[in-house]
Amino acid sequence: MIRLTVPSIEEDDLQAVREVIASGYLVQGRHVEIFEQAVANYVGANYAIAVSNCTAALHLALLAINVQQGDLVLVSAYSWIATANVIELCGAQPVFIDIERDTFNMDPDALQNTLSNLMSVPALAKRVKAILPVHTFGLMADLTKIINIASTYNLPVIEDAACALGADINEKKAGTWGVMGCFSFHPRKAITTGEGGIITTNDSAIARRLRSLRNHGIDTESKEVDFIEPGFNYRMTEFQAALGGTQMNKLERIIRARQTGAKRYNELLKNTAIKPPVSLKEQRHVYQSYIVLLPEQIANLRDKLINQLKNEGIETTIGTYHMPLSKYYSTRYGYKLGDLPIAEEVRRRSLALPLYETIKQEEQTKVINHLLTFNDKYV
Ligand SMILES: Cc1ncc(COP(=O)(O)O)c(C=O)c1O
Repeated sequence: MIRLTVPSIEEDDLQAVREVIASGYLVQGRHVEIFEQAVANYVGANYAIAVSNCTAALHLALLAINVQQGDLVLVSAYSWIATANVIELCGAQPVFIDIERDTFNMDPDALQNTLSNLMSVPALAKRVKAILPVHTFGLMADLTKIINIASTYNLPVIEDAACALGADINEKKAGTWGVMGCFSFHPRKAITTGEGGIITTNDSAIARRLRSLRNHGIDTESKEVDFIEPGFNYRMTEFQAALGGTQMNKLERIIRARQTGAKRYNELLKNTAIKPPVSLKEQRHVYQSYIVLLPEQIANLRDKLINQLKNEGIETTIGTYHMPLSKYYSTRYGYKLGDLPIAEEVRRRSLALPLYETIKQEEQTKVINHLLTFNDKYV
């Protein structure tokens, strides 16, 4: 089977985890601190706070800027459902913003329109608390424009950088643009800790609050154990952090291999009906997923295509989700077909192809040959 993704786990990773487990010190400690420092240094942020997964990271990021009951958070419509759920879990309401067809990222013009409308109604304006763009599939949202728009309304931006460790715009990395950046170490990301997440920030007060909130609301300043607010147990374990440490050492190697794989797919798809993902001159795309857009004629046959490819030993899947059309958000807020048309089109046409560090040229050729054969049969 040509898998959709294969994590790059090697002997040094196994050894690091083995050693920590054998030590008997298993929950948040020295290895978590070392891992946090490695990520902070790599990204170029003052602080990194490790947590149990990126959903927890996003949840704490919103709580750290006091997002609460009745607030509104503007969020990309096209993402894994966690991006919207964390807003709802704070008691706030997501306001979904459509995406750009080429980048799959929040459309700054759509953001500007929605914000102008909200801000012109005083009762709504005072509820708007934050903007949550997603760096979809490893390509950063246009944070130059988004932060510009946000700053005219004095709104904080939190980056959902779950898929974007190592991505940058003009060499300024994801996780250093907004007030906070949230990363995932789920096995479908470039490097993994099994489950795992981290929040990067340059703000010392926010870093302190995050360290408290992830650990039951502990007073991080006090010598004695005490608690300053109700918090969570969102801690990362020591063996996950040890794995994170060895994984960080190979991150650049993995990203380069994924970029090489993406280039090969781009070549194989040249002059075909299948649209490869865009790359932008000023951006470093880390290809957490390699997402193509199927031509309209076969988009509605995507399930059949995924099944046929599976029978040929090729694992593929859809891109990601149109969150406002999920049962919960459409029922609660009345979102319906046609409200966010670009996200709808991308949701319908997208297909994720296998991509990982060790994928071989002949495997990629096989994937594209089967894809094109299917397309030729139905067009
Ligand atoms: C864009 C995005 N945000 C958030 C998450 C949640 O990350 P985690 O699975 O680490 O909780 C994911 C996970 O895939 C994601 O892709």
